[in-house]
Amino acid sequence: MTINPKIKEKIVLALDVDTVRQAKELITELKDYVGVFKVGLQFYTANGGEVFEFMKDIGAKFFFDVKLLDIPNTVKKASENIVRSGASFYNLHALGGAEMMRQSVEGAQAAAAEIGAQMPVILAVTVLTSINDDVLNNQLKIPFNSLDYVATLAKLAKDSGMTGVVASVNEAKRIKEVCGNDFKVLCPGIRPEWSVKGDQKRPATPAYAIEQGADWLVIGRAVTAAENRLDAMKKIYDEIEKVI
Ligand code: C5P
Repeated sequence: MTINPKIKEKIVLALDVDTVRQAKELITELKDYVGVFKVGLQFYTANGGEVFEFMKDIGAKFFFDVKLLDIPNTVKKASENIVRSGASFYNLHALGGAEMMRQSVEGAQAAAAEIGAQMPVILAVTVLTSINDDVLNNQLKIPFNSLDYVATLAKLAKDSGMTGVVASVNEAKRIKEVCGNDFKVLCPGIRPEWSVKGDQKRPATPAYAIEQGADWLVIGRAVTAAENRLDAMKKIYDEIEKVI
């Protein structure tokens, strides 16, 4: 199959596995089809950054899904280290506020200049999808519905220099309306029709996510747990091809 680079750059594959060996297997098998590999806290806290070195060696891009939230100076220093590790994407919580986000950009700029790398994509997490309106209003005492609050935090993230946000497909349109089309949206919770839903309550298909304005799609078990991973990936390519 010829690989459409416009689709490849949209595919973010979640490396949600237990061991470095399993991660390397996935990366080797799928690197031609994947724009960015996502390393999350579960994998990183078990295995550290060994897989980062592997990806750098073979020229694969990676997203460190680290969700920083701390005082601005600490986030700045952590951002410098993340860029030095070779990450092309990383993220932080918009709830850390404008100063924290701006300091992260400063740290990333300094480290990128130091190692001669491109500026990374920095994404803000707005409201975790595990937090519903009840938790938002009654536990956290935030008196807004989640869609409005997501839009507010996305605008703050944009004004603080973020490349975009991590958001559910249901929020993508609203974020683009508020922040403009150039402000990027990365969407997890993607399931093609033929794939098992797993624990995702309201998954969106790849085609629907693209139609809603998603710039990047996080693909996890739809591919990684498929009987034939390459076949699953090709079906996702076919589906996206129809809508771009
Ligand atoms: O469910 P799936 O295997 O596709 O998940 C892929 C990745 O997306 C996982 O790393 C998960 O943490 C992340 N994610 C998610 N739903 C959210 C936010 C993040 O599945 N609402």
